[in-house]
Amino acid sequence: MQKTICELFAGVGGFRLGFDKLRSGWETNWFSQWEPGARTQWAHDCYVQHFGDSPDVNGELHTGEDISTVDKKNIPDHTLLVGGFPCQDYSVAHSLVSSKGIEGKKGVLWWQIRDTLEEKKPPFCLLENVDRLLKSPAKQRGRDFGVILSCFAALGYSVEWRVVNAAQYGAAQRRRRTFIFAYKNDTEYGKKMSGFSAEDVITGRGFMVSAFPITDAGKFLSTTIGTDLVDVSDNFAFSFENAGYMSNGEITTSKIVEAEEQPILLGKVLLSDGVDEKYFITSDRMEKWAYLKGAKKINRTAANGHQYVFSEGPIAFPDPWDRPGRTMLTSESTLNRSTHVVSDPKCGKLRLLTPVEAERLQGFEDNWTNTGMPDRMRYFCMGNALVVPMITRMGKVLDSIIPAEQ
Ligand SMILES: C[S@@+](CC[C@H](N)C(=O)[O-])C[C@H]1O[C@@H](n2cnc3c(N)ncnc32)[C@H](O)[C@@H]1O
Repeated sequence: MQKTICELFAGVGGFRLGFDKLRSGWETNWFSQWEPGARTQWAHDCYVQHFGDSPDVNGELHTGEDISTVDKKNIPDHTLLVGGFPCQDYSVAHSLVSSKGIEGKKGVLWWQIRDTLEEKKPPFCLLENVDRLLKSPAKQRGRDFGVILSCFAALGYSVEWRVVNAAQYGAAQRRRRTFIFAYKNDTEYGKKMSGFSAEDVITGRGFMVSAFPITDAGKFLSTTIGTDLVDVSDNFAFSFENAGYMSNGEITTSKIVEAEEQPILLGKVLLSDGVDEKYFITSDRMEKWAYLKGAKKINRTAANGHQYVFSEGPIAFPDPWDRPGRTMLTSESTLNRSTHVVSDPKCGKLRLLTPVEAERLQGFEDNWTNTGMPDRMRYFCMGNALVVPMITRMGKVLDSIIPAEQ
């Protein structure tokens, strides 16, 4: 089996970089990256500067366009479909045009992944999403992930998922993300895995536990899911835990305890010298930063007139050197409570992370996004990206699976 990858929602190429680092023959033969509403496509430009562009099956370049406008037939065949996509409303309804058809909400990117799976039928798929995907939406917990599992089941895939805190597995950032690994039931791997119980898959035999070892698992909870998407969308609810498995519509989940490897500490990520003055916090702004980071209780009025007290606790200010970083958001470096503020190793004064330090928190190479984009966009791209070594870990497990395939 060839080791080819199609990378959707590619950003600045976190998946590709993670697989390239294995140096085991993976080749990304197509990708898609388009930032809605942006005049300059910074992430696409950065991606192309590093890796070059990728023609489709007609020899045309459509990688920098809205994926929903791309005919999935024109995407080159691939062994593995990868992508980091947002948590959105995945509900569906019967379409008004035809009672047999179904319709999801417009602009929901999951359907682009589903359509690609349906058209290209890759044997393997690896996706990334935020941790709250498993609980969404609040009024029908688990529905959105249920919709995803139902689609996979209908297309003949089994699925494993895990919520992974990168810092537990040796990275520099406490970033929790849901990883979803799906494989076609008719692959050699699929046939082999069908011989194991769901408990075995989750705790010992499966893909995720091989990449991300665990120390314990809680009670195993089960349910079933059908392939009638409207029914799932209307009625399905389930408490998905941080690990689980779905095969032929049988879902099993358990709250596992992640094993702990020595993380990279924030102090190790910081530049020891040469940091430009513009990253330092000036004295007139210090009070504002201290306020944002501090505990507060504020009287607020909701839209319906209801009065309530908004309260939040303090967060470390500055961020400690002896812990991994917190989750980096796309707003990193703006005047914002979640922006990291650190004490500079050389002079001890407080400052923001530099773009290179933001890249290090995500496990990218220094200056990966130094491709002509402004600082603001470098932070934005890193906030959108993923922790690259997590991908390499999962790639290693895939490398052990592929040789058994025809
Ligand atoms: C969560 S980010 C993924 C980042 C990526 N994993 C990385 O390592 O940089 C999702 C990406 O999807 C892109 N995107 C959003 N809507 C899109 C669309 N309709 N077509 C193609 N790409 C889209 C966004 O611009 C964003 O870069």
